[in-house]
Amino acid sequence: MRDAAHSRTVCEVLREINDIHQGDTQIDISTRAMLREAVDMAKRMDRRLKEYNQEWDKDWWENNPNVNDDIERRMAVDYLAMDDDTIPEAIRRIPSMGGREIGRYLREWAARAQKGQAIVELGSWLGAGTAQLALGVAQSKRGVVVHAFDRFKANQSEIQKAATHGIVVKAGDSTVDLVRGLITPSLAEHVAFHQGEIMKAKWNGQPIAVYVDDACKREKEFLHALRTFGPSFIPNETVIVLMDFWYFERYPEDRGLRFQHDWMKKNINHFEHTQGRMPGTSATVFRYLRGKPWAEVK
Ligand SMILES: C[S@@+](CC[C@H](N)C(=O)[O-])C[C@H]1O[C@@H](n2cnc3c(N)ncnc32)[C@H](O)[C@@H]1O
Repeated sequence: MRDAAHSRTVCEVLREINDIHQGDTQIDISTRAMLREAVDMAKRMDRRLKEYNQEWDKDWWENNPNVNDDIERRMAVDYLAMDDDTIPEAIRRIPSMGGREIGRYLREWAARAQKGQAIVELGSWLGAGTAQLALGVAQSKRGVVVHAFDRFKANQSEIQKAATHGIVVKAGDSTVDLVRGLITPSLAEHVAFHQGEIMKAKWNGQPIAVYVDDACKREKEFLHALRTFGPSFIPNETVIVLMDFWYFERYPEDRGLRFQHDWMKKNINHFEHTQGRMPGTSATVFRYLRGKPWAEVK
């Protein structure tokens, strides 16, 4: 939403609603995610209408006298991490549930990974975050591989979300080739796709520089993943991004969704909480310090 139109179009009004919801609560974040979806839909509708009549909206919109102020304000407060202008258009177009919004950070952390280290992403969906991580390792040229773990089979709600971006996915179909294509073949070279249940995932023990969990909201999966990958965390180094850390605010009555949050707080002597909330998302960031808190639980 880092944009402003000279006229008060549908998209412009949606951006104005977005401006009102610039807070950090899950309600604000959820509203803004839906507004982004609505803007994407409006743009698709506009493109389709223009195929029939290039001037369909001529004389439709009232003037927006504040266009320059709007751009400046939105650039300052909205999606500071989503510095889209610096990345390829194809990557910008990948539907995102958060990876694109924190793209700048993912790229920076991935670019810092050293030779011999690896990056692990749990929950790739259509590859929005995977692509950002791959851009980072491509930039560093140290041969670091991004390991993306996912079923790579979209469920019904993910299919619907993809459809709002014009991407057709059928239930049960493997999405590995689709994701390879979306993130572009040259970036896909930096990615190892691990298709399957995270509960069955295996890890080869390579040190992990960046660990992004966007799949394991609840206790069983979250701790299982930590037991699988945690022993390869690098003391005082590994960046841990928990994409759904604040998601429970949206459903406060669902105690199970608080698990990550409560467990990390209980075990905070093993981690440093480096970023409370990533802008415009439910994500938070820790640095691994020491110990094996995951091994003590059970
Ligand atoms: C929220 S989406 C990931 C969004 C993505 N990181 C982005 O930024 O756009 C969660 C993904 O995790 C995958 N997932 C969730 N639980 C899983 C499990 N137990 N095993 C494998 N994949 C899982 C889903 O298939 C889905 O693709």
